Amino acid sequence: MRIRRALLFMPGDSERKIHKAAALGIDSIVMDLEDGVAWSQKQAARAATAQALQALDFGGSERAVRLNPAPSDLAEADLQATIAARPDAYVLPKVETPAHLLWLAAQLDHFEARFGWPSQGIRILALIETARGVVNVHEIAQASPRLDALLFGAEDLIGDIGGVRTPSNREVLYARSKVAIVAAAFGLQAIDQIFVDLHDQARLQAECQEALELGYRGKMAIHPTQAALIQAAFSPTPAQMAAAAQLVAAYEAHQACGAGVFTLDGKVVEAPMVKAAQQLLSRVVSNQ
Ligand code: COA
Ligand code: MG
Repeated sequence: MRIRRALLFMPGDSERKIHKAAALGIDSIVMDLEDGVAWSQKQAARAATAQALQALDFGGSERAVRLNPAPSDLAEADLQATIAARPDAYVLPKVETPAHLLWLAAQLDHFEARFGWPSQGIRILALIETARGVVNVHEIAQASPRLDALLFGAEDLIGDIGGVRTPSNREVLYARSKVAIVAAAFGLQAIDQIFVDLHDQARLQAECQEALELGYRGKMAIHPTQAALIQAAFSPTPAQMAAAAQLVAAYEAHQACGAGVFTLDGKVVEAPMVKAAQQLLSRVVSNQ
């Protein structure tokens, strides 16, 4: 699976931002046709996004498009306008049931057959950002082999349930954690919520750390400076890699001598810590 540490969103009608984003070396670029685009601009956004997909060099970045919620006439028009330019992935917002995902999967089956493209090549990233989405995420996660990632949307969720967003994030902890656990259970990536204060880099950094601790593999970004910070935050540091490699090597050496538990630098090492170290090392391998 392709690595997705930062996913940079921009309105699909902003050619300038799409051009800018394509040159930044960010893992995923998401051209938005949903809430980042005014109702009067939907048509223009579809056209600009299709044009960018066709003509622009995105380097190694994933080229993704966020549709309007499905099934709907809007989402169908979004697809019709962009599919021929063959994006790498579609982000589907406000996924509430497996049927929402299956609608898109069936559309993609149809287009891949029609254009003679490899089956299942176009990936789906599902945004879980409503109460029903959180309740049904377990079924949504298993709905389609095209699904690569679950993205958690805090702002929409709190709007949906009539809660209050706070800097503590405590009001979303249950749902945010549930999405990460369900993603892990079904071999999907978990991608964390956006952070709306463009000037508070320190809190963005802290929120990345929180997400890493919950098991998230990446985070959505809405500004280039955020994307750079996020991509770095979700990349293991050389010191972390060295420590993880040392721990795994020590574990294997002790296993070979018949010892399952041992101490390293004064701390007890047991199997779960080794698993965490192996997880970190696997992220490094798939980065390259
Ligand atoms: N992607 C690519 N480039 C972006 C960008 C983004 N998301 N956000 C800003 N930029 C560019 C700007 O175009 C500007 O470049 P320029 O000077 O060459 O034109 C530069 O980065 C600095 O931008 P800045 O002046 O700090 O911000 P802004 O006032 O132009 O834009 C926002 C602020 C919030 C409107 C903009 O960041 C944005 O559109 N973000 C995405 C919002 C979105 O998509 N939301 C829906 C999905 S959650
Ligand atoms: Mg949303």
